[in-house]
Amino acid sequence: MSKLQWAQNIDDLRTLAKRRLPRGLFEFVARGSEDEVGLQHNRSVLDSIKIKPRALVDVSQRSTATTLLGRAQGLPLIVGPTGAAGMLWYRGEAELARSAADAGVPYVLAMSSITPMEQVREACNGALWFQLYLSPETATSDQMIDRARAAGYDALVLTVDTVVSPNREYNSHNGFSVPMRLNRRNVLDFACHPGWLCAVIARYLAAGSMPRFENYPQAMRHSVAGRQKQRWAPVKRDESADWRAVAHIRKRWTGPLIIKGIGCVEDALAAVVAGADAVILSNHGARNLDSACSPTQLLPAVIASVAGRCPVWVDSGFARGSDVFKALALGAEAVLLGRAPLYGLAAAGYAGSARCLQFLREELDRCMAYAGVSDLADIGLDNLQDTGLVLPVIPVRSHPNPPQNLA
Ligand SMILES: Cc1cc2nc3c(=O)[nH]c(=O)nc-3n(C[C@H](O)[C@H](O)[C@H](O)COP(=O)(O)O)c2cc1C
Repeated sequence: MSKLQWAQNIDDLRTLAKRRLPRGLFEFVARGSEDEVGLQHNRSVLDSIKIKPRALVDVSQRSTATTLLGRAQGLPLIVGPTGAAGMLWYRGEAELARSAADAGVPYVLAMSSITPMEQVREACNGALWFQLYLSPETATSDQMIDRARAAGYDALVLTVDTVVSPNREYNSHNGFSVPMRLNRRNVLDFACHPGWLCAVIARYLAAGSMPRFENYPQAMRHSVAGRQKQRWAPVKRDESADWRAVAHIRKRWTGPLIIKGIGCVEDALAAVVAGADAVILSNHGARNLDSACSPTQLLPAVIASVAGRCPVWVDSGFARGSDVFKALALGAEAVLLGRAPLYGLAAAGYAGSARCLQFLREELDRCMAYAGVSDLADIGLDNLQDTGLVLPVIPVRSHPNPPQNLA
């Protein structure tokens, strides 16, 4: 039996990923920030929601198909942007994109990825979106937006939740940083994982160079082992950005614009006013602000406030088809995945990521059958048991910098 056949769920893929990757890299992917309360919180909110089983309903004709941004797709999922993909597998972003396309879901290429966006486009015949962080120089963002448009990307995902570098103390303990600086701890860590070293780093070297941030403008296209002083964000983030920056991006990118990293009702409303075509509620998989609220918990209040003006998607902590069902029942249109496909990718490249999406499809489908629903559009609050889940009534104050005044 192959290792991949042994895996029966996403947690098994995580186990395989842990075995194959150097510790520093695995923890960079799998862990959270500070005390990792957020990781636990994301999961405990999802686990506390219960699905109502329904008996003797005809569920013989089930479908997990849906439509996102007007495009039909096989599952209510999006393979999300993850800067590390190309370090887990050689040209990992292209493998993720292919597996997403084969499952009929979009792939979001992270701005801080390794494989050039044009090569990812060539590898993938499905929906492909590009993710952007705001840079202090408008020209830097503009260059990447224009390149994504020229390369045929279908939508732009603007991530707004990472204004400063997150506090991930375990990375220091592991001697791990981005960009990487070789030291005794990480050299030993890499040496203990010769399979990964040969299959990933040696292949990049054989192809001409250490992996680089290929999607940055030319002058910033450093190697992942570069010497630049900044940590975590080789392209500097703009700490002064406000909704005016979104207004600029909205003008520059004429296709669908998705705002990712919304963590409260006020910002969801601001994103709608700023012209977002969809918003993604997210606490970045509990990788940034450890005390942020679970996006799943925010769903009811955001859905009520946005009131159909803009699709609401969600991420952070999703690892089972039943989790996806719960998000849809609370009003989300789709769920974005971060770590889950990465575990599959790290375990077995394309096949591992495809297996992750297959698990989620089968689990969602099974869950629909137990809940007595055949169509995703019929999933709603009625499908949940009232378990006393605390969904806070969140007071909405006016936004400190309302975008409607800035247009
Ligand atoms: C290793 C890693 C790298 C990530 N890099 C990015 C990134 O470059 N841009 C971004 O918008 N989100 C990034 N994310 C966040 C994901 O897009 C997503 O919001 C989050 O992982 C969802 O939580 P989950 O991992 O529990 O599914 C990253 C997540 C991980 C795990």
